[in-house]
Amino acid sequence: MEVIVAEHAGFCFGVTKAVDTVYEQIAKGTSGYIYTYGPIIHNETVVSDLEKKGVRVINDIDELEELVAENKDNSKKQPAGTIVIRSHGVTRQVQTLIEKTGFDVIDATCPFVKRIHKVVAEESQKGKSIIVVGSANHPEVEGIVSYGDGKVYVIDGPESAAEFDENRELDYTLVAQTTFNKKKFQETVEIFKNNGYNINIVNTICNATDERQTEAEEIASKADAMIVIGGAHSSNSRKLYEICKEKCADTYFIQTLEDLHLNLTKNVKLVGITAGASTPKNIIEEVQNYVRTNF
Ligand code: F3S
Repeated sequence: MEVIVAEHAGFCFGVTKAVDTVYEQIAKGTSGYIYTYGPIIHNETVVSDLEKKGVRVINDIDELEELVAENKDNSKKQPAGTIVIRSHGVTRQVQTLIEKTGFDVIDATCPFVKRIHKVVAEESQKGKSIIVVGSANHPEVEGIVSYGDGKVYVIDGPESAAEFDENRELDYTLVAQTTFNKKKFQETVEIFKNNGYNINIVNTICNATDERQTEAEEIASKADAMIVIGGAHSSNSRKLYEICKEKCADTYFIQTLEDLHLNLTKNVKLVGITAGASTPKNIIEEVQNYVRTNF
């Protein structure tokens, strides 16, 4: 049986940079606590390793507001600290609050996400309405939306695009969540064009996502079984799973090797493996070794 592991599997450039930033701060012995706003990546193994090394997670805006308040109150003043902003960025409101803590701030927002913030801010200042194609409750999309000054709509794909019924006299600019499914993005764009909207399309799906999805689809098309490794809360991994499942009915979605209960028949000749942007290399290797040695 042959096993193919996707070349574009695992940490992307933005996630690598964010995770490395936190480990560098630990190694430097940065004074005070090191915080991340939200878990640095959607991977429990990495997050719990960081927790053991003393990194604290600020889970939401309420916890952030508490920190700001404690730092104003001299009796409770927190020791010096550093807050790392993770790769998919934060809202403008959160950014302001983070700065108000008085801690050092390291912004590890991926440059591809920063670019979307810039496009949305500039285009909405020109008076355009913004359409973001993505998941409304994903932190990256919440951040993107916050950079719009006027109307901002979030739609989650072709079905919502077909139902979209707003003023066709206005000018719109459309962007995408960096990890959006590129085929669904193209379908969505077509629907807007066909429905008579005056729309400026900025394809902001990042290269890493594009390459990862294209390669996963290619492997899944020829594989008899496909394994997608990714965090349960990682939206790019879920999308990867959907893409593979469409091409290969026998697709497994796992977080770690422990979740894998492969049921391979003798007819299985090719097993493909890919992984989302927040999956560390060692987990991919473990799964790969297990499949190679046990089947
Ligand atoms: Fe950046 Fe793309 Fe990764 S936007 S964080 S390189 S998935």
